Amino acid sequence: MSAAKVALGRFLFYDTRLSRDGSMSCATCHRQELAFTDGNARPVGVTGDMHPRSAMSLTNVAYNVSLTWDDPGSRFLEDQLTTPIFGHDPIEMGMERSEDLLSRLRSDWLTVLAFQAAFGDAAPPSPDDPQTREGPQLITMDRVAKALAAFERTLISGDSAFDRYLYQGQTDALSTSERRGMQLFFSHRLACSDCHQGFNFSGPFHFEGSRDHEPVFHNTGLYNLPSESGLGGYPPDNPGLRRHTGRKEDTGRFRAPTLRNIAVTAPYMHDGSIPTLDEVLDHYAAGGRTLTDGSYAGVGAQNPFKNERVRGFQLTDTERRDLLAFLHALTDESFLSDPRFGPPDP
Ligand code: HEC
Ligand code: HEC
Repeated sequence: MSAAKVALGRFLFYDTRLSRDGSMSCATCHRQELAFTDGNARPVGVTGDMHPRSAMSLTNVAYNVSLTWDDPGSRFLEDQLTTPIFGHDPIEMGMERSEDLLSRLRSDWLTVLAFQAAFGDAAPPSPDDPQTREGPQLITMDRVAKALAAFERTLISGDSAFDRYLYQGQTDALSTSERRGMQLFFSHRLACSDCHQGFNFSGPFHFEGSRDHEPVFHNTGLYNLPSESGLGGYPPDNPGLRRHTGRKEDTGRFRAPTLRNIAVTAPYMHDGSIPTLDEVLDHYAAGGRTLTDGSYAGVGAQNPFKNERVRGFQLTDTERRDLLAFLHALTDESFLSDPRFGPPDP
């Protein structure tokens, strides 16, 4: 990682030339002020395809052991990003061939300069000979990926009221209500922190020098549809981990996403099917969501594949307010407005 690579990655993250018709960049679905989500239940790609899953927050994404909602095999940012750019199922940015993207980038002098600064050999390019000594080798898909990933790894959030309270010793950073909510969050009764673990309130995480962790996925009882062998089904476009393993008991298992900046990333869950945090608490309090009508009607609490930690609980009105207040205290305003993460200067 170098400053020049990060600068190039930021430039590319906001660059609509990465989409077929120039209408979409990474930032279309990953907006900084929404902790790099898009505010929609499911995003729509350049050709009108609707993605089955919700755009994920990129908060502290560098630390995730696995990427995306349900894929245990997606481990590297450099590999993940080819899915939105070139993927067909669904079509997101809709590029057909990497050569099309690369020739767009190669034909622009400023882009050549930025690649030169990040990756180039010693000979600076000139407007008369913009390809440099490296020629087409200066701008490759591998380098596009490396730069984007370098930028993504800088998206670090650690300055919420909770962080100031816990890690910076500011005892008054959390109100009494937020502190009570924190206790509830970490309590055995609610068990939130059993799955939303560690500094990122997410699944297992890794860092330089840490040992290898296996990715973890849970079924929280969001659905319970009739399936080929009794109950336990999820909507057909989102079988969860089962999509990758083919195992029936992996139905409905998804990664526990980070809860940092959760107040700004509505709507919630892998398919954006819960509009508010208050309703997320209803889902957990009931030990799984009940849908009374529509094609997905069912009693999630009775899903046979549900994780046993989602067992339901009762909250008084004050407790509910406290827990919500705590979740709001995970918002890091500086992350949401830091100009280093915003669009590059024109
Ligand atoms: C059309 C909207 C859309 C665009 C454009 C888009 N993404 Fe995403 N992004 C998503 C969705 C949806 C997911 C969840 C995918 C899944 O679970 O299958 C996601 C997931 C991710 C993740 C995984 C995060 C995690 O915590 O596991 C990363 C990283 C990411 N996107 C980076 C990018 C980058 C880099 C670009 C630009 C090259 C990009 N995205 C463009 C919608 C989009
Ligand atoms: C068994 C593990 C588990 C427990 C216990 C658990 N969660 Fe979750 N949480 C998950 C998983 C997995 C998801 C994603 C599920 C999905 O989309 O189907 C999730 C999603 C969420 C989301 C939505 C995140 C987003 O970005 O859309 C919120 C908010 C949340 N949980 C809060 C809580 C709170 C508060 C508690 C305690 C009352 C809790 N969770 C307990 C595993 C768990």
